[in-house]
Amino acid sequence: MNALEIEEAISELAEQPFDKAEFPYQFLAAFGNKATTIKRLRSGASNSSDIKGGVLQRNNIHIATCDTGEVDATLQALRQSPQTAAARAKFILATDGDTLQAEDLTTDDAPVICDFEEFPDHFGFFGALAGISYPKPLRDNSFDVRATRLLNRLYVELLKESPEWDTEERRPDMNHFMARLIFCFFAEDTDIFHGEDLFTRTVEQMSERDSSNTHEVIGAIFRAMDCKLDDREATNTPRYANQFPYVNGQLFSGSTEVPRFTKIARSYLINIGNLDWKRINPDIFGSMIQAVADDEERGALGMHYTSVPNILKVLNPLFLDDLREKLEEAGDSPIKLLNLRKRMAKIRVFDPACGSGNFLVIAYKEMRAIEAEINRRRDEINRRTEIPLTNFRGIELRDFPAEVARLALIIAEYQCDVLYRGQKEALAEFLPLDAQNWITCGNALELDWIELWGTTGTSVKIRSDDLFQTPLDQAEIDFENEGGETYICGNPPYKGSNWRTKQQTEDLGRLVSSRVKGWKALDYVAGWLLKASHYSKYCDASIAFVTTNSICQGLQAAILWPLIFADGLRINFAHTSFKWSNLASHNAGVSVIVVGLGAAPTQTKRIFETDALGTTTVREVAQINAYLLNAANVVVHGAREPLSFEADMTDGSEVVPENWTGC
Ligand SMILES: C[S@@+](CC[C@H](N)C(=O)[O-])C[C@H]1O[C@@H](n2cnc3c(N)ncnc32)[C@H](O)[C@@H]1O
Repeated sequence: MNALEIEEAISELAEQPFDKAEFPYQFLAAFGNKATTIKRLRSGASNSSDIKGGVLQRNNIHIATCDTGEVDATLQALRQSPQTAAARAKFILATDGDTLQAEDLTTDDAPVICDFEEFPDHFGFFGALAGISYPKPLRDNSFDVRATRLLNRLYVELLKESPEWDTEERRPDMNHFMARLIFCFFAEDTDIFHGEDLFTRTVEQMSERDSSNTHEVIGAIFRAMDCKLDDREATNTPRYANQFPYVNGQLFSGSTEVPRFTKIARSYLINIGNLDWKRINPDIFGSMIQAVADDEERGALGMHYTSVPNILKVLNPLFLDDLREKLEEAGDSPIKLLNLRKRMAKIRVFDPACGSGNFLVIAYKEMRAIEAEINRRRDEINRRTEIPLTNFRGIELRDFPAEVARLALIIAEYQCDVLYRGQKEALAEFLPLDAQNWITCGNALELDWIELWGTTGTSVKIRSDDLFQTPLDQAEIDFENEGGETYICGNPPYKGSNWRTKQQTEDLGRLVSSRVKGWKALDYVAGWLLKASHYSKYCDASIAFVTTNSICQGLQAAILWPLIFADGLRINFAHTSFKWSNLASHNAGVSVIVVGLGAAPTQTKRIFETDALGTTTVREVAQINAYLLNAANVVVHGAREPLSFEADMTDGSEVVPENWTGC
C-alpha cells in the first residue's frame, strides 16, 4: 500500500464506531496486512500476546484495547510485557475508543497521545508497520498528507465529470482552479477571510445539495475576490460573495470558470474545507500537492521532493552558515546587527528548477528566523520584515508547481509574520496580494537568466550574448534593494543521455555543443551548471545544486568541469555521494552530491561526507577538484586504446546509478 492508501484506510477506520474486539485486526489490515496474516493472528496461531484483549504481531506491534479510562494502565502493561520484548515489537498501542496512546520502541520519538478519531493524523508515526520509513517531515505532518489525499480525490472526481478540463490546453485552468481553492481554504482558517470557514460555509449554504450550481457559486466568489470593493456594485456581485475581500495578486484574475461539481465532488470540497488549514506546512505541502496534478506522480505523494535536511546541505554552506556566524559575531552590538539586517535585505535567492518552491521557502524561513533574532536583540520585536519575498525567485517548467511555489512563499511569509510579529500585524499587511509574479513558468535552459533576473548592483537589464531565443512572457520586476549578494540553488532534473527527450538534448546542445565534443554524454543537469556559470560572469553569484554524482565521475567530469572552470568558477564546497532518501521506488538507490561554486574562491574549501549511519563530517581542504577530491585540478580524458595493457576494450566505464530511470 502506498502512503495515500494507508492514510485513507486508517481515516475510514477512525470514522467507524469503535469495536473493541475487532480494532487490532482492523488496524493491522489498514496498514496493509494480508487477510491470511490477520486470520492467523485471530486464530491465535501467531498471536503471542500475554495481555487481556491483546494482539501481538511478531517484529511489529503489540496492541491492546481496554475499558474506558484504562488506556494509561494498558499501555504500561504492554510496555512491561515480557512478550513485547521477546517478540521484538516495534510499537505498543492501547486504546479504549475515546483516546489512543502509542509508543515507538525503536526511536526516541515522542509518543502519540490523542483522541481516538485523531489517530489518523499520526499515520506517519506508524509507517514502519507498512514497511515504509517516512521522512521525518511526513511523519510529523500528517495534515499535509490528508489534505493532499482529499484534494487528489476532488481533482479526479472533477475531471471525471468534466473530461474537457483534462486536455492539455485546459489542464493549466484546472491547476489554477486548484491553487485558488487551496488559497481559500488557507485564508478561511487563518482569519484572512472574516468569518469562520467563510468559503466552505458559503459554498455549502449557497449551492444546491444536488451540486447543480456549485460551480456558479464558486465562480461568483472568485470574481468578487478579483474586484475592488468600490467596483462591486457595478459588477452585480451577489451579497454572499460580497463578504470576500479583494485579493488581487493575479490569483483570481483571468477566467473564473469553474468545473462542474458532482454531488460527490461537492461533499469532498466541504470535507477538505473542514480540515484545519492553519497546519499546512509550506516546506513540504507544495511538493506533495504538485502530485495531485500529475498522473504519474499521484499515489507517490510527492515523494520525489528534496527533504529539508538535504535542502539545508545546499543552503547552509552556500550562505546561511555565514549569516548565522555573523549573527554570533555581532552579539548585542546594535550597529553590527543593523548591518547584518541590511545585508540580508539585499540577498537574492534563485532556484532555476524550483518545483513548488521548497528551496526558496526554506531559504526565506531560515532568513526570517535570523532577522527575528536580530530584531529581538535590538528590541524591535514587532518590526516589519525587510526581507522582500520577491527576492526569492524561481523558474519551473510545469505550470502547477510554479503556481504552488508562489502560493507556498505567500503562506510562508504570512506564517513567519504571525510567528515573529503576531497575528494582527500579519493580517494587516496580507491583502491585497502583490500582483507581481516572481516565479517564472518556462524552460530554464531556454530563458535568459540575465534578462529575467538582471545583474547585481545595477538596474540596467543586459541581454546576454547567449543563444536564448525564447521571449519572456512576463513583465520585468525590479528587485528591492539592488546591489546585494546572489545565491543560485536547487535540485535540477537529472537525465542521463539514454533517458533524455529530444527537447532536453536540444536544450543541452544549445548551451554546449559549440564548446566541447562529446557533450551528449553529459547529464541534463549539467545544463543548469553551465547556465549558472554563464550567469555568474555577469553577476557575482554563488551557486549550489544537488545533482547526480555522475557529473563528477568518469567521462562527464572530463567534459563538464573544464568548461565551468574556464568561466572562472571554483568548487568552494561539496558534499560527496549520499543516498537519495525518499520513497520513490524508481530512484531509491540513486546517489547524489552537492556542489557549491563561486567566482570568488574561498580560502578554505569544505568537503562534507555522510557515512552509512548518517553521520556527517566536514574536512577543510585547500582545493576541490572535478572529482570532489582534495587534489590538483587534473581531469582524466577518455581513451579508445588501453594505456597500459594489451587486451581489447569493449565498453568504457559509464556510470549508471542502480535502479535509476531518470527524474
Ligand atoms: C528534482 S525536481 C526539484 C524540485 C523541487 N526543488 C523539489 O525538491 O521538489 C526538478 C524540477 O525541475 C523542473 N524542471 C524540469 N525541467 C525543467 C526545465 N527545463 N526548466 C525548468 N524547470 C524544469 C521539474 O518540473 C521539477 O519540478
